[in-house]
Amino acid sequence: MSILLTGGAGYIGSHTAVELLNAGYSVVIADDFSNSSPEVIKRVEEITKKTVSVYRVDVADKAAMRDLFSHETIEAVIHFAGFKAVGESVKKPMMYYRNNLDTTLTLLECMKEFGVSRIIFSSSATVYGSPERVPIEETDKTGGCSNPYGWTKWMIEQILTDTAKADDTLSCVLLRYFNPIGAHPSGRIGEMPNGIPNNLMPYITQVAVGRLKMLNVFGNDYDTPDGTGVRDYIHVVDLAKGHVAALKYALDHTGCEAINLGTGIGYSVLDMVHSFMRVNKVDIPFVIAPRRGGDIAQCYANPAKAERLLGWKAEKNLDDMCRDSWNWQKNNPNGYED
Ligand code: WQD
Repeated sequence: MSILLTGGAGYIGSHTAVELLNAGYSVVIADDFSNSSPEVIKRVEEITKKTVSVYRVDVADKAAMRDLFSHETIEAVIHFAGFKAVGESVKKPMMYYRNNLDTTLTLLECMKEFGVSRIIFSSSATVYGSPERVPIEETDKTGGCSNPYGWTKWMIEQILTDTAKADDTLSCVLLRYFNPIGAHPSGRIGEMPNGIPNNLMPYITQVAVGRLKMLNVFGNDYDTPDGTGVRDYIHVVDLAKGHVAALKYALDHTGCEAINLGTGIGYSVLDMVHSFMRVNKVDIPFVIAPRRGGDIAQCYANPAKAERLLGWKAEKNLDDMCRDSWNWQKNNPNGYED
């Protein structure tokens, strides 16, 4: 029996593949490599000394996905595949709705046809929109998303919720990630954004490695301790281990559960910059710039449900995240193109 990872060659997918293989699971990856590299698979196998079955497919391609399900014995699916750039989703909404919804619907149809009844979905704290309070709990209001990317996550959660209601053999776990950063301590896999990074940590590491000149801190007049945005940063290895815990839970569960994956600790942009400089002994020149449209002041999780239901909680701290992010970037200044 194998675990299918759609989008498994991506940043979070590849780290989850490592933890699943280390935990003794067999892993099948379906990825079109539109936002990742086949090199990632080699590195996952190098780190774990295990092999992965890989299908270079568009997850929305029904014939290709039926072929995969007919050649593999899939016990559960972890669904990472999807476009994920907030800014791009605003410019190209149709591409995001078509891709992120079609991949999901095709996957669910194949699961139904081949009798696979466990799915873990890569959701996001972005489904909370502008949260009504912090720390955020799973029962808090969702919707009011500020971009099409966030709406696709919210819609897919709704699709899975309704599908689980109609089929009482199904187990759906909706993992709402907060802000994943960091890299595997080996420095062999990590985040490789296309083009100029939108997210804070990859921008910082590209300044540190000399690919970018200076960090723009988007606003210091928020209602936060130092005026800069506060987020719940979680080490990608902790996040990956959260998926292994969610899989174990899903194998013995039916229904649909939303679960926050965060640390419950909020750090500001300046906290991050100062930690990164201290831990890695590198300078990060920055300037205070105007606020970025769509940003919110604070977003961090109440992580209690994950601990209660999954027996999981994040263990790595901000220093670990800064150290591992830099270790990846300085050893791979051009990502997987090196
Ligand atoms: C973090 C903080 C910025 C860049 C996004 C997506 C979310 C999820 C995680 C997928 C904010 C500030 C950033 C920069 C800055 N992705 N910042 N200068 O916006 O919290 O969440 O990524 O699920 O869906 O919305 O993350 O890293 O972009 O920003 O000052 O160059 O860093 O204002 O306060 P965000 P981020």
